[in-house]
Amino acid sequence: MTSEITFPQTEAELAETVRMTTLAFRRQVTPELMAGFWADVRRPGCRPEHQRILKVDGRIVAGALIVEKELRFGGSVFRCAGIGDVATDPDCRLRGLGRQMMEHCLEYMTDQGYAVSVLFGITDYYHKFGYRPAGCESSLTLTVPDALHAEAGALSVGPLRRDDLPAAARLHARTDAALPMTFVRSTAYWQHLFPRFRTARTLREGGGKLVAAWHGEVADGVYVVRQVVSQPKAPVMSSLLAHCARAAKRAGVEKLRFHLSLDHPFARHCPEYGAEASVRYPRNSGCMLRVLNFRSFARKLLPELSARVVAASLEKPLPSLTLATDLGQLGLGFDGDTTLLEDSPASISSRVRVDQGRLCQLLSGYRSIDDLSGLPGVTAPTAALPLLRVLFPQRCPYLWQADRF
Ligand SMILES: CC(C)(COP(=O)(O)OP(=O)(O)OC[C@H]1O[C@@H](n2cnc3c(N)ncnc32)[C@H](O)[C@@H]1OP(=O)(O)O)[C@@H](O)C(=O)NCCC(=O)NCCS
Repeated sequence: MTSEITFPQTEAELAETVRMTTLAFRRQVTPELMAGFWADVRRPGCRPEHQRILKVDGRIVAGALIVEKELRFGGSVFRCAGIGDVATDPDCRLRGLGRQMMEHCLEYMTDQGYAVSVLFGITDYYHKFGYRPAGCESSLTLTVPDALHAEAGALSVGPLRRDDLPAAARLHARTDAALPMTFVRSTAYWQHLFPRFRTARTLREGGGKLVAAWHGEVADGVYVVRQVVSQPKAPVMSSLLAHCARAAKRAGVEKLRFHLSLDHPFARHCPEYGAEASVRYPRNSGCMLRVLNFRSFARKLLPELSARVVAASLEKPLPSLTLATDLGQLGLGFDGDTTLLEDSPASISSRVRVDQGRLCQLLSGYRSIDDLSGLPGVTAPTAALPLLRVLFPQRCPYLWQADRF
């Protein structure tokens, strides 16, 4: 028996990979589904060699797609490798092929220099490979009569045009940069999304300037909005809500639901009109993260940690910290408002032990240090807790559905 891990080198091999993956997910292999997978493996961030496959005696029996992304935590942007379409042929399950594929992908992604990896996983599988849940599913639901109380104002409504994409991208990037965890969307990715956002609506000022946009559709009797883009100004956000409510009313439904981080300015604006917030934390599944290259991860962490220290205006001088993880050690020193990497742990007074997966949870705001401290693999000296609370505040880390894979 011969086995090798490689990538599809011919159209026929790619078709076989797509077929195996489709069957693995227990979906019927229809031309539409095949076309969807073809589009997936060719989206921005995917390269032919990123579709990894495991061949046994020439037959493709397992696969995984690596998706290149930039993952942003405020001012820190990491080179990130996403993994999707992890699949083993249904006839070959529970023989360690999925494990072989995952271990190969981890080695490959680490060698390629990615700092972190993210995936949207099934329950109780990916923790075996160092991933920890670090994102949540959050939404805000309003009744249509309540939302109709929002002031529509004088903004005009219209369709999203392809030439609106740069303006929409700028608005989106501005609000996303202040959210706990987001993917950076390239111009190419906005272009890729455009067909999906065909029915999106926009709001414009009198001069034609785009100030907001949303994409809504009716699902299960609710008007569901999975993407909003808005200037973070109260009159614009009221108008956005009012126009979504009107669209929901026209569609004949009684509720509207926004899937977004509850830290998004629009989510913070809505409670005035009556809203029900929901945050779901899937158990050992869903959005999961892990660190791949600790040194590059540590270096890129500094801008955001510095920003958090500055925003908190803490009493100076601040104590140094060592974050000791299973992948490496990070010495943090604080010089005025600047956070520095310190190489010599000897000079560092407080040592925090936290494994890399838990560090991801702290960074995204998924869990707080008070909550984690004392769990297996996490110890934090009491004296370090005030600073750790500032460095890692608990927030609502939700990733837009349009960015998932
Ligand atoms: C998930 C999947 C890829 C696993 O493939 P596999 O080749 O059977 O996995 P392995 O034999 O390498 O199993 C590795 C470990 O995971 C466990 N495992 C296997 N399938 C699992 C599952 N569906 N859920 C949880 N654990 C699972 C195994 O028991 C084994 O545990 P161990 O190492 O502690 O003994 C395969 O079941 C599949 O293709 N499922 C359908 C597609 C899918 O859901 N993909 C994941 C999308 S996020």
